Order: sequence, then C-alpha cells, then structure tokens
Amino acid sequence: MVKKEVSLDLNPSSLLKRHHIFIKFAVSFLLLGLAFRILVSDSLPFSLSAVESLPPSPSPPLSRAETDTIADSPLPSSSSPSLPVQVAGAGDLLANESQTIQNATVAVECDLFVGDWVPDPSAPAYTNSTCLDIEAHQNCMKNGRPDSGYLHWRWNPRDCELPRFDPEKFLDFMKNKWWAFIGDSISRNHVQSLLCMLSQVEQAVEVYHDEQYKSRRWHFPSHNFTLSVIWTPFLLKADVFEDINGVSSSETQLHLDKLDETWTEQYKNFDYAVIAGGKWYLKTAIYRENDTVTGCHYCPGKNLTEMSFEYAYRRALKLVLNFTMDSSHKAFVFLRTTTPDHFENGEWFSGGTCNRTAPFKEGEVDTKDVDAVMRGIEMEEFEKAASVGAENRVTLKLLDTTGMSLLRPDGHPGPYRQFQPFAKDKNAKVQNDCLHWCLPGPIDSWNDIVMEMVIRGSQ
Ligand SMILES: *[C@@H]1O[C@H](CO)[C@@H](O)[C@H](O)[C@H]1NC(C)=O
Ligand SMILES: *[C@@H]1O[C@H](CO)[C@@H](O)[C@H](O)[C@H]1NC(C)=O
Ligand SMILES: *[C@@H]1O[C@H](CO)[C@@H](O)[C@H](O)[C@H]1NC(C)=O
Ligand SMILES: *[C@@H]1O[C@H](CO)[C@@H](O)[C@H](O)[C@H]1NC(C)=O
Ligand SMILES: *[C@@H]1O[C@H](CO)[C@@H](O)[C@H](O)[C@H]1NC(C)=O
Ligand SMILES: *[C@@H]1O[C@H](CO)[C@@H](O)[C@H](O)[C@H]1NC(C)=O
Ligand SMILES: *[C@@H]1O[C@H](CO)[C@@H](O)[C@H](O)[C@H]1NC(C)=O
Ligand SMILES: *[C@@H]1O[C@H](CO)[C@@H](O)[C@H](O)[C@H]1NC(C)=O
Repeated sequence: MVKKEVSLDLNPSSLLKRHHIFIKFAVSFLLLGLAFRILVSDSLPFSLSAVESLPPSPSPPLSRAETDTIADSPLPSSSSPSLPVQVAGAGDLLANESQTIQNATVAVECDLFVGDWVPDPSAPAYTNSTCLDIEAHQNCMKNGRPDSGYLHWRWNPRDCELPRFDPEKFLDFMKNKWWAFIGDSISRNHVQSLLCMLSQVEQAVEVYHDEQYKSRRWHFPSHNFTLSVIWTPFLLKADVFEDINGVSSSETQLHLDKLDETWTEQYKNFDYAVIAGGKWYLKTAIYRENDTVTGCHYCPGKNLTEMSFEYAYRRALKLVLNFTMDSSHKAFVFLRTTTPDHFENGEWFSGGTCNRTAPFKEGEVDTKDVDAVMRGIEMEEFEKAASVGAENRVTLKLLDTTGMSLLRPDGHPGPYRQFQPFAKDKNAKVQNDCLHWCLPGPIDSWNDIVMEMVIRGSQ
C-alpha cells in the first residue's frame, strides 16, 4: 500500500527496476567514471558523486550504490565544488573605468544560481492558514511537522541581491498575461508555491481542472492573469497504463518522435512557459519511433533492444526545444533543470528518510549520478537551443535550480506527507517523501528567481 502511494506521480513503479538502475549506474560509473568526470565535471557546479570518491557508508543495507548518494559526513575538500564565479573578472576590469558600468555589469551578469542559503528570521510568504491551495501531501505545517527552522532561510546569490517575490508587483507586471507550468508533479509543486504567494494579494478562481486535478487553470480576475499547470510528465506523447495508485497494468509506450499535444495545442496562448521533465524517464518504457517499436528502457524478459533513459530524455528535450524555439508564437520559455531528492539510508522504496533540519553547506553533498546525467543533458540541449532561439527572437532561460535545491535536504515533507503520521504510534513506519517540497518551503525561492529573471529579461 505504502509503496503504491509514492509511485503515484514520479517514482519508478517497481522496486526491482529502480534497484537495477543503481546497479547499472554503479557498474557503468566504475568503468567509465574517469572519462565521464572529465566530460561533465566542467559544466557542473557541483562535483559528481562518482562511486569511488565517496566516504564509506556506515553499514549499507542494500548496496553501496544505493546508499552512497548522500554522504553522511562532509566530503574531503578535494571533491568540494568549484563554483563558477562569473562576475568578479568583468567587474574588476571595468572597476576604474566607470562605477556605473561596473554596477550595470554586475546586475546583468550575476549568476542567480550561485550562492548560499543564509538565515532569514522573517516569516514565510504564506502559511497553511493564509494559503488554501496547498496539496495535502506537501502541507507540512498542517500535517504536524514539528520543526520550523526550514522556513527561515533565504537564497542569497553570491554577487547580487535577490529581492523576495513581490506578488503585487508580479501581478501588475503580468496584467493580461498567461503563464503555464508544463511537466510532472514537481511542476505542480512549483505552481502551488506561486499560487500561494499570489493569493496573498488576490484569490485565484479555478477555471479548469482535469479529472484527477493534475492539469489545472486559474484566473486572477482583477489582473486578468491566467495560470496553468499542465500534466505531461514525459513532455512527449505517451500511453501510460497506470491507475490512480501508480500501479501499471502494462508498460508505458513512449513516442520519441511526437510531443504531447496536451501542451503543444495550448502553447500559442502562453506568454511564459516553465518547462521541466526528467524523473519519469527512469521508469520502464517501450520506445516507439514512426509508430514502430525501436527499443525499450528496462524491460527484462522482453526481446527488445535496451536503450538508455539518457537517449530518450535527450530526444525529448531536443523536440521540446525545437518546437518552442521554432514556433511562430514567441513565448518567454524557462527550462528548469532536474530536481534532486534527499533520501538517506535507503531509497524511497527501502525506508529512505530525510530528517535533517538545516541546509547543507557547499561541499557537504554531491549531486546524485542520475541528476548529474540529467542536468548534463539539459545544459547541452539548452545551450544549443538558446542560440537558435535568439535568432528567432524567442527568449529561452535556464532555471537552473538543481544546485540550490541540492543544498536543502531539510525542505521535504519526509513522513509529514501524511496528516499527523505519528499520532497513533510514535514509532510508526511511514512512507517518506524526500523529493517534493514542503509548502511553504525552499521551492518558494524558485519564484524569487523566476521573478528576477522576468524583470531582467524585460529590461
Ligand atoms: C584601480 O584603481 C585602484 C586605485 O584607485 C588601483 O589600485 C588599481 O590597481 C586599479 N586597477 C586597475 C585594473 O587599473
Ligand atoms: C555602484 O555600487 C556601489 C557599491 O555597490 C555604490 O556605492 C555606488 O553608488 C554605485 N554606483 C552607481 C552609479 O549606482
Ligand atoms: C495550520 O497548521 C496548524 C498546525 O501547525 C494547525 O493548528 C492549523 O489548524 C492549520 N490551519 C489550517 C487552516 O489547516
Ligand atoms: C485577458 O488576457 C488574455 C490573454 O491572457 C487576453 O486574450 C484577453 O483579451 C484579456 N482580456 C481583457 C478583458 O483584457
Ligand atoms: C522514420 O521515418 C522517417 C521518414 O519516413 C525516416 O527518415 C526515419 O529514418 C524513420 N525513423 C526510424 C527510427 O525508423
Ligand atoms: C528476438 O528477436 C530477434 C530479432 O527480432 C529474433 O531473431 C529472435 O529469435 C528473438 N528471440 C526470442 C527468444 O524470441
Ligand atoms: C527544428 O527542426 C527542424 C527540422 O529538423 C530544423 O529545420 C530547425 O532548424 C530546428 N530548429 C531549432 C530551433 O532547433
Ligand atoms: C534521522 O534518521 C536516522 C535514520 O534514518 C536516525 O538514526 C536519526 O536518529 C534520525 N534523527 C532524528 C533527529 O530524528
């Protein structure tokens, strides 16, 4: 029962299959570790957690590869992240030429995604009482999470000030505009954060929802602002045979050459689109091209060619970005990078938990292999598409939240995805969610950044 619930939105549907992923990764990383690190480490803000570089875990319950993804103790300094510092050089060069130029340069070039979480005593932008749109599984306050320290951190980019999200200003800026969040349950998590912040100024009216409340649309009448969330976990056309509990009766059929019309048909309406995907590519799927089966991912027992999720995910991003950059409709497009989970002492299916109550400091944690690979693909496809997009006068921005989110193991519901999970039995074994984010929580900072990028993008 418990397993079923979490597999609902994002997680691979079978324990065994996920197990295989990590074994596969362990093996391929041991073999290719060095080459891989050289290839990708330059483009990653956080060093890759190659299997061999991690400190020994105390007592791995399953396999090393499954448990090593988050180090219990700080990693040796040799593997601490080398964050790109993009501004200092430019600023220094211009320093003596003109103060104005220097300030302007800093404002434009500051990397919003390089920074630290700093203590912030101010109250969160909303609570379970002032926002009524929080999904039950992410309503940590209401569900009885006992600590509140996780609410008092602010993302502080290293080289500039990041103002807090200003709902009034945002809504004024977005009069007559339409935003869409396109992706999986993390996109839904993200849209609810925005909705909660905006509802402090104006209550939205829900104008559409699908049967399972996965795709929804809201309208803010006094600003004529429209906000959509579109459920399309693969972004591609996919025939999924999963019931509401995440139990699948047959393998997903994924069309690697067709986009999901659920979002493409509406695309011409959107002024801003925040697109993200990824985690569903880890699931078992039969891959199709030209309506013909060309292979599969994780389908032991089927006489089909095994293809990597990397291959499929790259194909997906290429199609998505090609579509958005080529479209005669010019939207402002964000591509959000993969979101890290923080299961420790096990995975989601094997009793993993996330009971930390404070952020990591830089260097205390490494990106999991799966996220490093996904982000690598995202970066590469983004770079290619952004230059084409610029020629077509389409704005494409990378919402590179992976690194900042990685530092927030304390921001997940954990056991508090359920209402008062320990009310009856304080030792109850409950399913933890260390992937989605509490609302309010660190995901609210994604919107501080989104707002800043929108304002900068319009200058
Ligand atoms: C800028 O000016 C300061 C003193 O005003 C000087 O020490 C420094 O060397 C100068 N830097 C450059 C790059 O010219
Ligand atoms: C540039 O920034 C410095 C400090 O950050 C400030 O003292 C100075 O007034 C600014 N100059 C302008 C022209 O905004
Ligand atoms: C919000 O959570 C608190 C517990 O932290 C609870 O007492 C209160 O009833 C909740 N409010 C709503 C509206 O659910
Ligand atoms: C409201 O915004 C939509 C675009 O999102 C626009 O098509 C429509 O004309 C606007 N309505 C009014 C009354 O301005
Ligand atoms: C799909 O069809 C197109 C055109 O008919 C062809 O060029 C392409 O090679 C086919 N792809 C596959 C994977 O069969
Ligand atoms: C697997 O497929 C290949 C070619 O599609 C075929 O030659 C082979 O006989 C199949 N093997 C089994 C066990 O069905
Ligand atoms: C999209 O794909 C088409 C056909 O393959 C190609 O001509 C076009 O240049 C691509 N556009 C972008 C933005 O990648
Ligand atoms: C956190 O969980 C670990 C095991 O998963 C446990 O050993 C530890 O005591 C827990 N810490 C707190 C503060 O509950």
